[in-house]
Amino acid sequence: MPIDAATHELIGRDHPATLLRAEIARLIGSHGGLVLVTGEAGIGKTTLVTSAAREARRQGALVVGGACWDSGSAPGYWPWTQVIRALRRGAEPEEWAAAEEAAGASLAAILGETQVPDGDQAQQGNGQSPFLTVTPGGDEVPDAFRLYDAVTSALVALAQRRPVVIVIDDLHVADPASLRLLEFAAQQTWFERLLLIGTYRDTEVEPVDHPLRDLLSPLVAKATTITLTGLDEAGVAALMARTAGQEPPPDLVTEVHRRTGGNPFFVEQTARLWRSGGSATAIAPGIRDALLRRLSLLPRPVAELLPAAAVLGREFHRQVLAATVAAPVAHVDRLLELAVVAKLVVTKGGGEFAFAHDLVRETLYDSLADPRDLHAAVVIAADGLVAQGFDQRPGDARGNGGDQADPV
Ligand SMILES: Nc1ncnc2c1ncn2[C@@H]1O[C@H](COP(=O)(O)OP(=O)(O)O)[C@@H](O)[C@H]1O
Ligand SMILES: [Mg+2]
Repeated sequence: MPIDAATHELIGRDHPATLLRAEIARLIGSHGGLVLVTGEAGIGKTTLVTSAAREARRQGALVVGGACWDSGSAPGYWPWTQVIRALRRGAEPEEWAAAEEAAGASLAAILGETQVPDGDQAQQGNGQSPFLTVTPGGDEVPDAFRLYDAVTSALVALAQRRPVVIVIDDLHVADPASLRLLEFAAQQTWFERLLLIGTYRDTEVEPVDHPLRDLLSPLVAKATTITLTGLDEAGVAALMARTAGQEPPPDLVTEVHRRTGGNPFFVEQTARLWRSGGSATAIAPGIRDALLRRLSLLPRPVAELLPAAAVLGREFHRQVLAATVAAPVAHVDRLLELAVVAKLVVTKGGGEFAFAHDLVRETLYDSLADPRDLHAAVVIAADGLVAQGFDQRPGDARGNGGDQADPV
């Protein structure tokens, strides 16, 4: 396969791409809406929405994007600043003139040309005017509502001239005011030819008390949500071939699919390692970093439990795990539930769980300073369970199993 020619081709993703194509068709023909694309890091959110953006542009839409920035140092409304600047660059002069006229002077604040109030602070106002907030420096700046209204009016003015698509990437690291503005814009423009597309890592927002969870849920309620999962084996084979420039043998594809769970970023990293003559079973550094980051975001008790599960194996039983860490099964269940929401672990039924893919287990196992301690705990736990009549067979729970039977 000629690698360069294929670079922009999406591999797999037939269903998500079809959904997005339908959204674009409705945008061009009638009106837009709000789409959220979710999934873990590296699963292909940016790639999918970039492909949709290209398609919309081909069909004549004005397409712009902005990305949220995780540094804590980005100014408020940063993704929207990028969006409005890109609209100013991308629109025809008369289109932009109409947008500016509709928006009024407040748009300058988003463009970074006057000071922007923090969303929360601005909503409290200064007690003098419902529309202005006085900064500590004494400047009067438009309040959040005015800003939301200005941006939305500009978007509507543009959308009345041609369909508009706005993509905001990585909403899980947005500033709160930007999310409120997205909700406001989505609410106010439902019947306009404006399609708003956002992406975020559901795996990072949902299992923990994420500061943005309450701001994302009203968006989710209004949106068409597309949740991406791993590529299938055929997709893994195609991505490996494209990345490495050579066809991988089928047994290697099966192995890489199992280890990566079809996460395209992990597949690419593994394929690069393979191409460079490295072992296809080693963990590429980029993968380890990505997984360690995800593990570090877990609530501490979950992060402390999972290494013990890694010692038990690719699949493990909740009761054996509970016995290994000497904790009540009900407590272990609660922690496992969070690991499932974080998509690091999956439920197999009958009290059995499995790591979402082997690389999660391998990364956890490798991070153990001394796995021997845990191996010893497993042996002791297993002996204790057998003595109690617990007979664990793969995918099944027997013996004294059940919720009441707490082995500790
Ligand atoms: N459908 C796909 N086809 C081919 N490559 C993909 C696909 N999805 C993702 N990739 C590749 O995987 C990597 C990670 O994808 P990305 O879109 O950045 O993930 P995310 O935004 O979810 O973190 C990128 O290098 C991209 O080229
Ligand atoms: Mg991305």
